[in-house]
Amino acid sequence: MNRKSFLKSGLLGGAGLLLPGSSSANKNYKLSQNIPVFRFAVGGDLHYGIDEYQKHSENLVNWLNREKENRGLDLYFLNGDIVHDITDKYEELQSEFLSGLSMPYFATKGNHDYLEAGQTWESVWGYAANQIVEAGPLAFIFADTSRGNDLDASVYTSPDPQWMQNALQAVSDKTAVFIVLHIAQRREGGTGWPQPWPRFGVGHYEESRISEAERVLAMIESAPNVKAVFHGHNHNIISSYTTHSAPQPNAKPYFFCSRVGHSWGNTIGYRIVEIYENGSARTYQYDPESETALNTELIEMKAPDQPCRTTFDNKSFDIRLV
Ligand SMILES: [Fe+2]
Repeated sequence: MNRKSFLKSGLLGGAGLLLPGSSSANKNYKLSQNIPVFRFAVGGDLHYGIDEYQKHSENLVNWLNREKENRGLDLYFLNGDIVHDITDKYEELQSEFLSGLSMPYFATKGNHDYLEAGQTWESVWGYAANQIVEAGPLAFIFADTSRGNDLDASVYTSPDPQWMQNALQAVSDKTAVFIVLHIAQRREGGTGWPQPWPRFGVGHYEESRISEAERVLAMIESAPNVKAVFHGHNHNIISSYTTHSAPQPNAKPYFFCSRVGHSWGNTIGYRIVEIYENGSARTYQYDPESETALNTELIEMKAPDQPCRTTFDNKSFDIRLV
C-alpha cells in the first residue's frame, strides 16, 4: 500500500489491522515454533539513485512481501539513507516501488536523505522525521540523526535531546519501546560490549556532537521499557553492541542491520524481530538472498518487578502516529 494512501485511509487513526497468519515457515527458519503476536523488520541504506537502485528496490519489496506471506510482517522501518544525496526521486521510489509493500512502513531520515528548500520530511512522507508509532502495548520511536543540515552527508548528530526526552516520557506506560535511529550515537572506539563501538558513530566528523549524543544515550539507558535500539549506516555490521565494557544483565542491545541496497558492504539484508505471546522476543539478521538467519539473539522484554503484556486485544492492533 502506498504510504500516502495508507495515511489517508485512516488506518493510522485507529482502525484495527488483523495480524497476518503464517502459511509456511521461511526455508531456513529454525528459530522458533511459536507464532509471533507481532513481527517487524528494520533495514535501511537503500541509497536510491546510485548503483543498481531499481533492482535493489524491487528486491526489497519482494523480500518483505515474502516475509509477510510466510511468518507475517506487521511493520517495516526503512531506516535511513533511503536515497543517495538527491531530492527529486522520493516520489518515484514511493510510486514505483514502495507502494508495492503489503504491510505498513515508516521512513527514518538518514544523512544521505537530502531535502531542498521548501521540502520537509513531512511533505515527502506524510509525517515528521521525529515520530512515535504506537502499536497496542508497543511503541516505536524514530528520529532524525542528521539534524540541522539537509544537504551534507557528513552531518552526524543525536536526535533532538529535548524531543527524545519528551518522547520517552510519552511512552513510559508501554510494555516495550523500540528505537530506530540511522546513526549510532556512540563514537568509534567508545566503551562497548562485546567490543568497542564501530566507525561512523556521532563524532566521526565533529567531536563537538559527542556530548549531546551521550546525553541521549543516557536517556535511552535509563528508560526501563526501552528494549532495543536499531541502527543502519554501517553497511557491513550485523551484530549488536551494548554501552557497557562487560556483559550486564538487562543491558540494552543496539542492533546494526546492514543494508538493503548500495554496492558497498559485504552483507545485504534486514533485521527481523519476533515478539511472542508469553512476552519473550528474539531477533535475527536475515540474508534474503541465501534465505539465512544470522546472529539470533533474545531480547529481554520483562523489566524487573513489572508485568510483561505483549498480547493484542482480539489478535488485532492499531498503529497510531503520535
Ligand atoms: Fe548513513
